[in-house]
Amino acid sequence: MTWQFRKTGPGDGIVAEASTDPFSPPKWAPPVWHMPEGLVLLVNAVRILVRLAVFTVRNIVPVSVAAGLGWLWHQVGWHLPALLVALVLVVLGLWALIDWASFLRYVGRPARARWRLVFVYRRDWQPILATAGLTRVHKKREYVPRLVKVRCGSTSDRVLVRMLKGQAPDAWEKVAPNLAHGFGASLVRVRQGTAGRWSWQAGQLRRRQVPKPGLVWLEFVRKDALATPIPALPIPEATAVDLTAVEVGRCEDGSPWRLRLLGTHVLIAGATGSGKGSVLWSIVRGLLPWMRAGLVEVWALDPKRMELSFGRPLFERYGRYCSDPSGGMVELLEEAARDMNARANQFAGVTRSFTPTHEHPFRVIIVDELAFLTAYCGERDLRKRAESALGVLTTQGRSVGYCVIGAQQDARKEVNNLRNLFPDKIALRLDESDQVDMILGDGARDRGALADQISPIPEIGAGVGFVRLETVPDPIRVRAAYVSDDDISEMVAFALADDTHDAGEAA
Ligand SMILES: Nc1ncnc2c1ncn2[C@@H]1O[C@H](COP(=O)(O)OP(=O)(O)OP(=O)(O)O)[C@@H](O)[C@H]1O
Ligand SMILES: [Mg+2]
Repeated sequence: MTWQFRKTGPGDGIVAEASTDPFSPPKWAPPVWHMPEGLVLLVNAVRILVRLAVFTVRNIVPVSVAAGLGWLWHQVGWHLPALLVALVLVVLGLWALIDWASFLRYVGRPARARWRLVFVYRRDWQPILATAGLTRVHKKREYVPRLVKVRCGSTSDRVLVRMLKGQAPDAWEKVAPNLAHGFGASLVRVRQGTAGRWSWQAGQLRRRQVPKPGLVWLEFVRKDALATPIPALPIPEATAVDLTAVEVGRCEDGSPWRLRLLGTHVLIAGATGSGKGSVLWSIVRGLLPWMRAGLVEVWALDPKRMELSFGRPLFERYGRYCSDPSGGMVELLEEAARDMNARANQFAGVTRSFTPTHEHPFRVIIVDELAFLTAYCGERDLRKRAESALGVLTTQGRSVGYCVIGAQQDARKEVNNLRNLFPDKIALRLDESDQVDMILGDGARDRGALADQISPIPEIGAGVGFVRLETVPDPIRVRAAYVSDDDISEMVAFALADDTHDAGEAA
């Protein structure tokens, strides 16, 4: 150990330098004190004891179990502790066989999280954070953000971190690639930190997660859960259809991806071949029993005549032409806007919430390649009329049972200046990184919506995208189920099997 204050210079005979230049000013350096060896040993012994105490407190359960077994071994020999361990293993094995899901939830994942906390995250925490520039040194002391806990999912780990005072989540977002490489993950996303809070709700004590300043969740993605295509989902039972949660695919955490249609409009943006069709068809598939029952009507606009034409008998109305003299699709939109206005007049002062009936079915207006109507259509007058009808439908249709679902390739404002009228947006594979924020809102890409990095290989990346819902600020990675031509034929057969379905065609 060294202490300050050591004088060197001409006259004290310690530094040779001084003798080379007799006119140089004297140099000062701290004196060297040699600590007695006994004291060094004592300090190291205290250090080890403190570390041991911290380890014991942090790992109180495994340490207590190991200590108990060791004590038993010492008292009665090895047979009893070995029998106890075997018994516990048998019980755990039976539990796993009988109910794998609950075993995973209460034993498998917590054990894995503990393992990864100790042997992955805590082990390399300080050096990786220091290299990424997330630690700070003040007055020769290093301050390191604290690792609070680790949660393990099937494909990703979530690590809760208490940031240094004065640090903000964007400091972590900037170095997300460094963290991913450091901890061997394919991707890291930074989310607002939360803490559990007990509250009394609807007569029950419930624990909710509430945002907590100073904390961030780091989501380390270990493997891509959406790398293989998801086959078309089964057509739901009529009783299972829910307009606030139509199942269209899967989220990255393995949970169903459910899309809200009632009370909102949805914009799907993605480059050519990104799989917009699979989102549209999965929505139609999820609504099919109610379409057959007459509670939901889908009006489809298909400028390219390639996507939706295959399932034409399913749609109540189907529009094909825009640039023809009659402007078939524009007329269809205008008709929808007129009907919506009539509904609004009828409902005014009577009801504020919409429930579909046979008289007033929930109406879904699907527009594949929205930009064709608002930007590329040759006739200026038709473009204006289409924009105006879409504007009316999106601004006023939510509460009277109208939902517009638009798909487009180009995210730029010049191409669709109505995009802010769509509360829910889906970004599939996009060509440029700055299109991500254009679709999902400012900061979405920094929060992990890397839609420009989705693979262009259809098996890996088609139908994969990010969603940002009105109520959830963080983008969620999802994949739509793939509805093949055979599935569409099956859907047509299902819809036509009931004679009450009145499929028609307009335009
Ligand atoms: N969810 C999916 N899972 C796997 N493969 C898919 C999925 N969706 C689409 N594909 C594949 O990708 C191809 C392109 O999909 P799709 O036609 O839906 O793209 P798109 O975004 O509508 O393109 P465009 O803008 O050119 O119409 C499909 O032929 C299919 O092979
Ligand atoms: Mg398409």
